Amino acid sequence: MSKKLNLLVVGSGGREHAICKSFNESQNVANVYCAPGNSGMVSTGINTVDISELNFKDLADFAVENQIDWTFVGPENALVAGITDYFRERKLAIFGPNKFAAQLEGSKDFALKFMVKHNIPTADYQTFQSTAEAISALADFSVPIVVKADGLAAGKGVTIAGSKADAQNVIGEMLANGEHQIVLEEFLTGPEYSLFVVVNGTDFQILPMAQDHKRAYDDDEGPNTGGMGAYSPVPQLSKKDYQEMISKIVEPSINGLNKDGFDYHGILYIGLILTDHGPKVIEYNVRLGDPETQVVLPRLKTDFAEVIDNCINDIKMKQLEIDSQACLGIVLAAKGYPHAPVKGQLLPDFGKRLGISIDYANVTAKDNRLYGNGGRILSVVALQDTLSNAQIKAYEYIDSLDFTDCYYRKDIGKKALK
Ligand code: AMP
Ligand code: GLY
Repeated sequence: MSKKLNLLVVGSGGREHAICKSFNESQNVANVYCAPGNSGMVSTGINTVDISELNFKDLADFAVENQIDWTFVGPENALVAGITDYFRERKLAIFGPNKFAAQLEGSKDFALKFMVKHNIPTADYQTFQSTAEAISALADFSVPIVVKADGLAAGKGVTIAGSKADAQNVIGEMLANGEHQIVLEEFLTGPEYSLFVVVNGTDFQILPMAQDHKRAYDDDEGPNTGGMGAYSPVPQLSKKDYQEMISKIVEPSINGLNKDGFDYHGILYIGLILTDHGPKVIEYNVRLGDPETQVVLPRLKTDFAEVIDNCINDIKMKQLEIDSQACLGIVLAAKGYPHAPVKGQLLPDFGKRLGISIDYANVTAKDNRLYGNGGRILSVVALQDTLSNAQIKAYEYIDSLDFTDCYYRKDIGKKALK
């Protein structure tokens, strides 16, 4: 790269904070802007810009006025709504799939059809627009039954129904509440993994693997959330199973995208369950995971800004270099999250501590202090020589702080360290 880059990241969560920080560390980057960003980002040298992630016109105007070299899109809502198509029309460089390709996350039925077409292992499923038809098809499924809203639902569109009566109720509610179609799926059992692929057409690189903790409470109890903590690497996953994920899922997915003419330039997040019959896809997302990004990017030794810059300029990506250190992140959530999160709690001062970083998400600032603003507030992330030490360090730190109206899981990383 000859001149230093000005970059714009779209989004406002902990994921975007981690992305911005990793871009900011690059020797090749002059300025990192984040729109809309959050108040916690400012202390780490990120310039927040008060434009919402769905206001494409103002974002593009900002990119022109501030000589942004390229834009990286964090969240799915902007991608599904077509930010990439809009920026391309305005001849602005952007990394993220177009509106057509973003349906892989925006419609469960679209994604499942793609998997079936390309022989990618997934759950047995059927799609319905009518409540009566869905209910009569329940006879074909054994419990538990997975009921999914077809469209984007921010982690709230999936119910695991323990009985057919529960499934009936959920089907009725989803279709009555504006969802135009739903999917019934076979329930898969096994550990879940998050696999992120940087895709530039036919060229791709795989980021370090992570595991999220989707349920709100310890031992995977309680409601589904956006994710309560994550760690990377995942030592419990054997080399053989990982190789099978690559050959049976990653490669056919990338080949399928190319065969079908998706023109995919962005992240492909593959959510997997390792079943007794091998790995199966439970979902595609068209973006990085949150809170997985917070533990994946710190392990990347290759300059992430350069990886994306190569994609933008159609230069073949280099093999990624991964740090042997381990990273573990604990999400601090508002009391009541995910159903009724409490807002406005004063957060403690996070002093600088070696090996610990804070990725802010839902926070606001007043008189130089940060307050929680609902949902997932921040992640405490530790990078250490081993996963066990990362877990010890992250918990030592978070346990030493005084919080009101917040909670966090006490068992992040437990499955890897048993
Ligand atoms: P999704 O929004 O598709 O990622 O689903 C949210 C969560 O529901 C996943 O992370 C899984 O824990 C669970 N889930 C989704 N689909 C299935 C399935 N077919 N079998 C078992 N669990 C599932
Ligand atoms: N952590 C799960 C997700 O980003 O969808």
